[in-house]
Amino acid sequence: MKVRDIGKVLARTTVVAGIVGLSVAVPAVHAEENRLDEIQRQIADLQRELSELRGTHVQSDLAAETSVKPGINDKWKSEEIEPLIARLEEESREIYSNSKLLAATAGPAPGSVVADIGAGSGFMAQHFAELVGSEGKVYAVDINATMMKHLAEAAAEAGLDNLETVVCSEKSVDLPPNSIDLAFICDTYHHFEYPRNTMSSIHEALRPGGQVVLVDFHRIEGVSRDWIFDHVRAGQEVFTQEVLDTGFELVNSHALPQFEENYILRFRKK
Ligand SMILES: C[S@@+](CC[C@H](N)C(=O)[O-])C[C@H]1O[C@@H](n2cnc3c(N)ncnc32)[C@H](O)[C@@H]1O
Repeated sequence: MKVRDIGKVLARTTVVAGIVGLSVAVPAVHAEENRLDEIQRQIADLQRELSELRGTHVQSDLAAETSVKPGINDKWKSEEIEPLIARLEEESREIYSNSKLLAATAGPAPGSVVADIGAGSGFMAQHFAELVGSEGKVYAVDINATMMKHLAEAAAEAGLDNLETVVCSEKSVDLPPNSIDLAFICDTYHHFEYPRNTMSSIHEALRPGGQVVLVDFHRIEGVSRDWIFDHVRAGQEVFTQEVLDTGFELVNSHALPQFEENYILRFRKK
């Protein structure tokens, strides 16, 4: 055999050895892939089970919630709404006298969807309806059906076609999932008898990245008026923690000199 022929044989032997090696390696690779697939399937099953368990836990936690302030809304459920409206629309009330500034601070984008939770007489909802414009929408949400009927009539008279009233329950804002960009809660959080349930329903109604603007009373010893200590069950720190615990993160606090009795906080859905 010539040296050139030996070279050719060696070359063919190398190719054959390569093919044999590969054919041994291919089943091994397949086996590894199958094992990986199986592990991934098992991980997916475990993740599903875990999220079901978490869901069950959250559901039972929500079902177990009892009223944090029984009776706080007795007056607010009244069908006699004139005294309630008069109370909300007092010039001496900083929320009312600075309502346009407050609406602009909440800052809904034109075309966005806002829910005014605990809308009351609805002056804020009406400002929002103007700010979001005809491409946007405002849900005025409250437990008081008479108040919402009154507001629906006022909005129709003012030509605010983009304002819709919703009579909700004490445990849920009863808005469709993923339907709103901003939930505005003004002097109402301390009226929530079931804050975890209500905030969870707001969380569900918000679109990804949606925000909550919370306005409520400072409750500071030596500073706040006496009636606040009895009426408002907790101060800013406690309410902030409660909101964080229902799946939100704090974005910022708006410090406006016009607001001395109330703080204004912005949260984002996590
Ligand atoms: C003090 S008023 C504030 C009204 C309005 N946000 C304002 O600042 O002029 C509180 C309102 O919250 C409503 N409310 C109480 N609990 C509520 C709940 N769980 N969901 C929605 N609204 C509620 C009451 O009916 C009442 O209209």
